[in-house]
Amino acid sequence: MKFEKSILCIGAGYVGGPTMAMIAHKCPDCKVTVVDIDKERIRQWNSDVLPIYEPGLDEIVKATRGRNLFFSTEIEKGIKEAEIIFVSVNTPTKLFGAGAGMAADLQYWEKTARQIKRYADADKIIVEKSTLPVKTALAMERILTSSDNEIHFEVLSNPEFLAEGTAIKDLEEPDRVLIGSKETDRGVRARDELVEIYATWIPRERIVTSNIWSSELSKLVANAFLAQRISSINSVTALCEKTDADVTEVARAVGMDSRVGNKFLKASIGFGGSCFKKDILNLVYLCRQYGLDEVASYWEGVIRINEYQKDRFVLTMLGAMFNTLAGKRVCLFGFAFKADTGDTRESPAISIAKRLIEERAELVISDPKALKNAVKDLEGLDGTVRYMEDPYEASYGCDALAVMTEWGLYKDLDYERVYRSMAQPAFIFDGRNILDHKRLFEIGFNVFPIGKPALTHF
Ligand code: NAD
Ligand code: UGA
Repeated sequence: MKFEKSILCIGAGYVGGPTMAMIAHKCPDCKVTVVDIDKERIRQWNSDVLPIYEPGLDEIVKATRGRNLFFSTEIEKGIKEAEIIFVSVNTPTKLFGAGAGMAADLQYWEKTARQIKRYADADKIIVEKSTLPVKTALAMERILTSSDNEIHFEVLSNPEFLAEGTAIKDLEEPDRVLIGSKETDRGVRARDELVEIYATWIPRERIVTSNIWSSELSKLVANAFLAQRISSINSVTALCEKTDADVTEVARAVGMDSRVGNKFLKASIGFGGSCFKKDILNLVYLCRQYGLDEVASYWEGVIRINEYQKDRFVLTMLGAMFNTLAGKRVCLFGFAFKADTGDTRESPAISIAKRLIEERAELVISDPKALKNAVKDLEGLDGTVRYMEDPYEASYGCDALAVMTEWGLYKDLDYERVYRSMAQPAFIFDGRNILDHKRLFEIGFNVFPIGKPALTHF
């Protein structure tokens, strides 16, 4: 079959896989290939069990795979063939050398740039899909144009705003698509070419264009703003617990102001996920590099509150359970960083589990999609940790339950049955405020929500 355009994506992860599946689904005239150095990941993309769980993803991949969507490890061939190359490799926090623990680790991104330079034999549009520090496009351009061949590379920034668990909906109906380009003729032409692809299914007024640096920076700032809202409401939970105010009521009253809005005001054990922390650290690092220490400290506060919130949760458990958790069995309901994903990267459940093990609690971990990742995350820890998907089996004989992830299934359990099977007195710590606290109290549980008065029988 002859395709109108050939698109390549380097990096078959949580972003590369779903975004390219959506482009292939909406643009049947485009050939979309996703390549990765990770052979196992590519094998999974080509199998019946995809490497990531995302509602609606299976259907789209299965409808397009082999038609105009291809997963492959042939990076060289992919680069040669494509007119447009998306770069969607990982950009984790750097763990060594200058900027360790703060700056973005750009080694994967740079290797990709060099691969493109080595194999390209015609002009290409290069699209930064990964989240990168502002001004990275300049470095990309310098690498790509460092040899004196005649090939022209036009670098665009097109950050991704999808959230895991809702990726397909976010890709199908995004609030906006952002495309940053240079203001040169070639830059604008390349930008328009990308606009046309998205315009196949996204209303044009939602496709926003900007200069390339604004686009790169907007992505970091968007994540920082979202995380800041969560830290803001989580900071208020501590005050609510001291004053008998109820954080859900406060969030509702505050969020009804149309200037504030009601989203991202759900109190929790803290935000997780692969990006919020790393992107804020990256923003903080950039500010410091430019000598903007006050701005850096301001954003650093968002992370400080997040760490405080996780620690506070464990201290609440400890205080409620008579200041010792040693030898007590604690069941964690959920391990994923949010519902509807099997992803556990930076999940608050990881640090809470580690802290509970330090207190010598025995853990039973339950999650409908994330147990495999949980096993890897807690590998090598000294302590008793068991994994059971069934929440009834998992909570059997436990002293306490702690909700880590807001999976719908935990709302509808038969809590009378759960209560009868637990050691007494039985405790519930609802780290997501998803359960019916009054009803649980009536059943006999001692209930500790986040940012609300505890309901105890003592
Ligand atoms: P990921 O780790 O799931 O996937 C990245 C993939 O790139 C990996 O499979 C890795 O093997 C591959 N890779 C690395 N170097 C390569 C190379 N030289 N050649 C070929 N493949 C290579 O990461 P992700 O979650 O998809 O995130 C990718 C980027 O998108 C990051 O910058 C992230 O900040 C950003 N982002 C992520 C999300 C999200 O929800 N996960 C949302 C928006 C933006
Ligand atoms: C987030 C952003 O929402 C996306 O726009 C962005 O593209 C993405 O990061 C990224 O750059 O990686 P994601 O991390 O997948 O998406 O999920 P979110 O829904 O933002 O949740 C992040 C964390 O915050 C989760 O742990 C979630 O439970 C927590 N959260 C969210 C709260 O504690 N309270 C809330 O009100 C909302």
